[in-house]
Parts: sequence; C-alpha cells; structure tokens
Amino acid sequence: MLVRNIGIDLGFGFVKATDGERDFIFPSVVGAGQELTYRSELTTYVDPIVNLAVVIDGKRYFVGELAIRQSEIRSRSMSDNHAQEKNTKILLLTALALYVQGKSEEFNVVTGLPPGYYLANKEILADLIKGRHTVHLNIDGVAQEKVIVVNNVKIIPQPLGTLFDKIFDERGVIRDKDLARSKVGIIDIGFRTTDFAWVDKLEYIDKLGHTNTTAMSKVYAIISESLHNKFRIYKEDYDLEEVVQKARIKVDGEFYSLEQVKQEAYEQLTAKILTEMNSIWDKRMLDGILISGGGGSALAEYLLPELKIATLVENSQTANVHGYLKLGHKLFGYTENPSHGGSENASRFSAAALKTAFDEG
Ligand SMILES: Nc1ncnc2c1ncn2[C@@H]1O[C@H](COP(=O)(O)OP(=O)(O)OP(=O)(O)O)[C@@H](O)[C@H]1O
Ligand SMILES: [Mg+2]
Repeated sequence: MLVRNIGIDLGFGFVKATDGERDFIFPSVVGAGQELTYRSELTTYVDPIVNLAVVIDGKRYFVGELAIRQSEIRSRSMSDNHAQEKNTKILLLTALALYVQGKSEEFNVVTGLPPGYYLANKEILADLIKGRHTVHLNIDGVAQEKVIVVNNVKIIPQPLGTLFDKIFDERGVIRDKDLARSKVGIIDIGFRTTDFAWVDKLEYIDKLGHTNTTAMSKVYAIISESLHNKFRIYKEDYDLEEVVQKARIKVDGEFYSLEQVKQEAYEQLTAKILTEMNSIWDKRMLDGILISGGGGSALAEYLLPELKIATLVENSQTANVHGYLKLGHKLFGYTENPSHGGSENASRFSAAALKTAFDEG
C-alpha cells in the first residue's frame, strides 16, 4: 500500500496541511459537536473545510469554521504545550482524515514545534501522532469511518520548515546551494507566537532560537478593545478575522473604518518584534533573514524597510508546511502522488459539496 507523506503545521491560529496536491487551512478551533436541527437550503457554507464535524474516541466535535459558527463552547488551542493539549489530537486527526481517500490510509508525517517548546515536547508529540487512529469524518452529512495509520513521524523546530521550503525542490533535493551554505535568520510571525531561528550552513543553532508571544493576536486584542470601548461590542479573536482583514465593522447597518487602529497596531507590533530580534541576534552576522508566517505577510510593509537583508517568503502562511512536506520526501522517499494530475481527486471535495447543494436545493 502506498504511504503518503504529509506536512502538518499545527499553528495556534490555523492548522495548515499539505500532501503536495492539496493544501488545507482551517482555524485551530475545536468545539462541542451537536446535532444541528436545521441546515438552510440556501446556505453558502457548502465547502467541507468550513463544515468539519468529527467523532474521535467516541466524542463529537466541530472543528474550524463550523466550531466558530455553531458550537456553544469552543476553544482555540492556547496553552504553550501543544503536545499535551487535548485539542492537538483532534486538530491533527481531522487534518489527516481529510487526506484519507476511501476507508484507510498510511502516512508519514512531518510537523513542527515552536523552538522554545521543542526539546521538552517533541517525544510526547511524536507518541501522540504515531500509530493507528480511527476518525469519523462527516462528509455531505454522512459520518464516514477513516482509519489513519501513521508509520513515521519527524518533528522539527517550526521555522525550519520555511528554510526547507526555499532550499529543497518538490522532491526534497537541494536546489538552492547558496542558501544551504549561508547564515540565515528566520522570523516566523504567527497568530500567537513569533519564532526566531538561526541556521548556519543548515545547522540549527539552538541558543539563538527563541519563541515569544509578540504576534498577530496582539493586533486582535487591540482591535477587540477598541470595539468594546467604542461600541460595547465584545468579540472573541476568532470572530475577528474578517473584521481585521477588511479593517471595518458594520454596526447598525453602517460601516465604521478600523483602518487607523489597525495601522497603529501593526506599527506597534512591528517595533516590538524588531526590539526583540535585536535583543537575541546580532543581525550584522547574518547573510539574510526570511520573514514567514501569516503575520509575515501582514507586517511586511512595516518590517521590510527596517530590515535591509530581509525578504518575505512566498505564501508565507503555508511556507512552513510546504517545507515539512519536502523534508518528508527527503527522509521517507518521494513517490508520485497517486492523485497526481487527476483532476477527479483534486476536486473531490468541491464536487461533493456542489452535489449536496444541488440535492438539497
Ligand atoms: N495573506 C495575509 N495577509 C495578511 N495577514 C495574514 C495573511 N494570512 C494570514 N494573515 C494573518 O496571520 C495570522 C495567522 O498566521 P499563521 O497561520 O502563520 O499563525 P499560526 O501558525 O496559526 O500561529 P502560531 O505560529 O503562533 O502558532 C492570521 O490571524 C492573520 O492575522
Ligand atoms: Mg505558525
């Protein structure tokens, strides 16, 4: 049986996963799953990624967007300790279940932990992932049993995924030899944490790695407070994603711009990240700095003018996970994906979703 290599980035904000063919991104939010009494015929929420309902160890959960929309009790995985967090297992198995075509599939998984939590947690996380798991994943209203067998697990400090994405080609062969010989700093700005990693000729320098919580959630906190002060509106950070991206909110039928608060928050966050970088690194010793993470895209226009040797990596939010997959190909071998070139498989979910829309409508 073919063993599929998968990269999974379990972020505090979003889970990112890829098998090289398809990427999945969903908010790292888990809620209690309940029977939904009525599903509107006209709902636009037909994409399975916004309707993740699973049963794991006999319990029902809503995951990602569905949890945000429908669960009374929901939690964003927020403790430092990924490995011991109950949500970790649910998020991880949900992501893997999305790649099980048919009833059962074998995987090799590459994932990461923030540098600051790496050593203490990597064994615990590996033990959690390895082995055989059964998940019931709801597809088009029907719970389908998915058996997940994880053969091999590799866990690396998170930001190294970004470096591997730049250095390796699709099959895990080194393509950028210059970068492989350089001293590179990686700043991965995420939802809850910013990770700093220093790599010298592909060697990760432990003492220069660092994790802190000066990250995008600080912007959400500032905007949340401003909404509370101005309008007495209280929103959880996961309800704010669109408000922050669009920098406006509709109250009583009218839009209010949040552009200025947002801009100030971005400026403050950037300044703080730079101060922290300077306290751990002498950046003059580096050949280059790679800016990564979803927050990298958000802050690039503020950060790059201050850091001459820095570049924003392409698709910064998914750079880590693409690097994990490439490392997986290098470690566990590259096999042509069975669904490669098969548009049938690539569009499996959206086709199914469309079908439901028609059946119900
Ligand atoms: N294209 C984009 N433009 C602007 N901001 C973005 C973009 N993509 C993501 N973001 C921001 O990045 C945040 C999420 O980043 P990311 O997915 O890297 O975090 P994470 O990995 O889940 O968190 P952590 O690294 O702390 O565990 C979002 O909440 C959003 O604010
Ligand atoms: Mg991250």
